[in-house]
Amino acid sequence: MVAIRPLKSVWMDGALVPWDQARVHVLTHGLHYGYAVFEGIRSHGTAAGPAIFRLPEHIDRFLSSAKIYRMKIPYSREELIRACCDLVKDNGLLDSYIRPIAFSGYGEMGLDPTRSAVQVAIIQWSWGAYLGESNAQAGVRAIVSSWVRVDSRSLPPQAKCAANYANGGLAKMEATSAGYDEAILLNSAGMVSEGPGENIFRVKNDIVSTPPASSGILRGITRDTVIQFVADEGLIFRRSDFTREEMFTADEMLFTGTAAGITPIREVDGRPIGTGKYPITARLQKRYDDAIHGRSKEYGHWLTVVR
Ligand SMILES: Cc1ncc(COP(=O)(O)O)c(C=O)c1O
Repeated sequence: MVAIRPLKSVWMDGALVPWDQARVHVLTHGLHYGYAVFEGIRSHGTAAGPAIFRLPEHIDRFLSSAKIYRMKIPYSREELIRACCDLVKDNGLLDSYIRPIAFSGYGEMGLDPTRSAVQVAIIQWSWGAYLGESNAQAGVRAIVSSWVRVDSRSLPPQAKCAANYANGGLAKMEATSAGYDEAILLNSAGMVSEGPGENIFRVKNDIVSTPPASSGILRGITRDTVIQFVADEGLIFRRSDFTREEMFTADEMLFTGTAAGITPIREVDGRPIGTGKYPITARLQKRYDDAIHGRSKEYGHWLTVVR
């Protein structure tokens, strides 16, 4: 585990405040009942300075998550975009993870979150490859979890709400305590859904597929990026469910996510995937690396350069 290194400032409730002053009371409502929606965004160094990848899309998903939970965020889309840029500028960090979070604050206790004012913070820190630097190339070892992915009849998976991550956390601990790198969750219909913090793709006979939104996933922004890359590579893409055993017989499997990037999966439930080589994943990784570092004109519109 790598400890978080404090930076200069945090954006909190409308202003930049010194890192150590970004605090909340222990009776913060969201801390007790899981009422928090958040985002995970990355900035990278480019020739033009730090650039935030697909920032408007992340802020739109943030606002959608809040809407699902009837949470009224007291800042506009434009104010939140500007706040992320101000924070990156103030901290002067090129490669970073950016976490906007909105939560029911200190007010009343009890299950109705609308009785507490909504607080919003944006935190930035340095975070390397989520699934490990060497695994990003060599691939991770994954197992199918005994925990079932939250179902939209109980918790909306398309809202990036803190409560959902108790489900993902159980799956993650199950995998890591058994010596694996990551978990894969099935949905209540028994089909593959996603990882605890990543979407999942399968490659078979040069056809790339990923489960549809109805499979209980978060609609990942990296997933959407990869779907575009697949089209640009001239490959066939299908948004389709697949079964546990269809992972075992895949040519390639991969995770996608802002934290995890594009990471090959080299083993599922003790079965090695394909030949151990990931030519299509490598092509997608190369496009992604070029896009996030501003080396590709084609995807320049996805970058918000912080000047
Ligand atoms: C449950 C879950 N699925 C998928 C993803 C991937 O989403 P994105 O590519 O937008 O980071 C994440 C990460 O935010 C996640 O937490």
